[in-house]
Amino acid sequence: MREPLSVAKVPRRSYWMKWCAAGFMILFLAMPRGAAGQETAAFYKQNCYSCHTIGGGRLVGPDLKNVTTRQDRDWLARFMLNPQAMIDRGDPYAKQILEESRGVVMSQVAGLTRERANALLDLIEAESALEKSQFEGVKFSDRPFTSQDVERGERLFKGVESLKNGGPSCISCHTVRGLGLLGGGRLGVDLTKVSERVGGRKPLSAWLVSPATTTMQPVFKENAMEAEEILSLVAFFEDAAKQVGDDDSVAPLTFFLMGLGGMVLVLGAFDIIWKNRFRAVRRPLVAGGQMGTRV
Ligand code: HEC
Ligand code: HEC
Repeated sequence: MREPLSVAKVPRRSYWMKWCAAGFMILFLAMPRGAAGQETAAFYKQNCYSCHTIGGGRLVGPDLKNVTTRQDRDWLARFMLNPQAMIDRGDPYAKQILEESRGVVMSQVAGLTRERANALLDLIEAESALEKSQFEGVKFSDRPFTSQDVERGERLFKGVESLKNGGPSCISCHTVRGLGLLGGGRLGVDLTKVSERVGGRKPLSAWLVSPATTTMQPVFKENAMEAEEILSLVAFFEDAAKQVGDDDSVAPLTFFLMGLGGMVLVLGAFDIIWKNRFRAVRRPLVAGGQMGTRV
């Protein structure tokens, strides 16, 4: 009884599938440019926005407005695909933009291909022509930091207060000097002077909106930090940098002193051990010699 039913159904199903496929095909052909453009904009937002604005001034990297008039597209695409290689080659333009970025090298962007690099340059060109690009950059509050901001930043860093959207606390991977002798993780870099390194409050804040590094991006993609949390963390970093001042030798000195203290302890311990040993060897000798001359 079942057989004829299903036989009758099969052609009908494939008939609908054909129509659906045709429908999708038409949709796809009708707006491939729009879709591709959207995909490129999303890629830019996820991977470039944290370090570059288009018309909003420098962040960690240069403002990309009109970048294609500063350098030819082929060069720019090659640079984007492998920034370090272009710098290592001793290219003077690469050297110049590296110096202007305080020696911070653009990180290699995962999933970037030659076609995507070209599409990104098209996007940057189109956005540069607009009076106000959608990538002009995030606006941050520039109110002065308070001691409450610094304290909250420290709590967030240490995980004493959790990040609202569920991101992991920074201390699991990073350290900041002054946290206690050996506090903090070692997977990420020491963040004591990070604000200075990346060029100040604005670049650091923008960077934290979507951290563009291979380790942090997947972790924070779904758990982006809130503006007030970022402000507090930046306040904490700037304060930590102030605490250590220009003295970069604080940590090595601490370790040196710890080493010195350790050495004194070890020498003291040896002294005690050896003294006892010496006595232990000497006593019977002396006792043995008692027959002869007294010591
Ligand atoms: C971690 C920060 C960072 C990220 C993320 C980043 N860049 Fe960069 N970018 C830089 C820095 C810094 C420079 C300047 C050269 C240098 O120091 O390496 C630069 C330089 C450039 C240049 C050349 C600028 C000029 O003035 O000639 C282009 C183009 C560029 N980046 C595009 C992109 C694109 C597109 C993305 C995303 C796919 C991206 N960058 C992601 C930091 C970054
Ligand atoms: C899962 C580990 C991990 C966590 C959690 C983490 N980071 Fe990172 N972070 C890294 C690593 C590793 C790097 C170095 C770049 C890389 O390899 O991705 C880095 C780089 C950075 C940088 C760039 C430093 C530089 O000089 O380029 C900043 C700023 C930063 N992290 C801030 C934070 C803050 C703030 C938090 C907490 C909200 C945090 N990170 C949480 C692993 C982590």
